Amino acid sequence: MTRKKITIVGAGFVGSTAAHWIAAKGLADIILVDIDEGIAKGKALDLQQAMIMNNKDIKIIGTNSYEQTKGSDIVVVTAGIPRKPGMSRDELISINSKIVEDICNKLKEYCPDTILIIVTNPLDAMVYKVYKLMGLPKNKIVGMAGMLDSARFKHFICEATGNSPKEVDAMVLGTHNNSMVPLASKATINQVPLKQVLNKEKITGIIEKTKNGGAEIVKLLGKGSAYYTPGLGIMEMVEAILKDQKKLLPCTAYCEGEYGAKDIFIGVPVILGKSGVEEIVEMVLEEQQQMNESIKHIKKLIDSL
Ligand code: NAI
Ligand code: 2OP
Repeated sequence: MTRKKITIVGAGFVGSTAAHWIAAKGLADIILVDIDEGIAKGKALDLQQAMIMNNKDIKIIGTNSYEQTKGSDIVVVTAGIPRKPGMSRDELISINSKIVEDICNKLKEYCPDTILIIVTNPLDAMVYKVYKLMGLPKNKIVGMAGMLDSARFKHFICEATGNSPKEVDAMVLGTHNNSMVPLASKATINQVPLKQVLNKEKITGIIEKTKNGGAEIVKLLGKGSAYYTPGLGIMEMVEAILKDQKKLLPCTAYCEGEYGAKDIFIGVPVILGKSGVEEIVEMVLEEQQQMNESIKHIKKLIDSL
């Protein structure tokens, strides 16, 4: 059986952490591409040696050229500038747009048919831009943010209730921004609705903490942004696609009317399998008004591209 091949463009904190999770699970060979050849090669070598210690038969290559990305089953794009304390993700739009455009030009030549997972911020705009530039079908382009925001939502629920993560089911949809939509109405602990467990004030507090989760880490780090959870979110999406798991995950997908979103990418519950986004699962939401705010936010953002 031929081994699967994943390219990760951007060997910075998020890209290399995703590579680490993917390699540790033995999912695929990895090509780490970065404009900084030393970073790509150095991290690939270190990770390769770690996998030798870990007895994983995985090949990891670092490069600044796209030659070896040919035939990748999935390409993950994490290249770009992270925000600084006090900055919004949206302020990264002009600089990261240029980086993403440069990468798409290379990918069109070397990986024109691959499945793409976009991570670079501002996520909702970058994934839309890639869709327009690559000319791939909508199922082959998906953004990672809902995995991260949902993990934060669950974390703050566990913190408030003392439950274990296995007992909590909760999801965040919408934009990867302050107008994201934590679905408090659908969150459960051991199947019991969250609103039966916590009062309204506590739930509002959890929602605010979730929305502020990225900025909290940016402020604490002083330089750069989160990477362990984003890296793991990427790995879960890669695994769902490579193993055709048909897993329900919150991902940024192209909508044509679902949840009132039209011709934009937004966080929605999707089924991820070997074809990428195989289905968008629709539900009636108590939070639809907030989804409408998210949609407005994303439209304004992509108008400025
Ligand atoms: P980082 O600064 O550690 O790494 C970025 C890497 O991109 C650097 O190694 C840089 O050399 C490389 N790069 C820049 N231009 C390039 C180009 N044209 N081609 C190839 N590589 C290039 O940043 P980090 O922390 O890895 O974050 C990366 C991006 O991911 C940021 O935009 C950040 O905001 C975003 N992000 C998004 C998340 C999400 O949930 N969607 C979560 C975490 C980060
Ligand atoms: C986060 O929310 C940087 O967007 C990333 O941590």
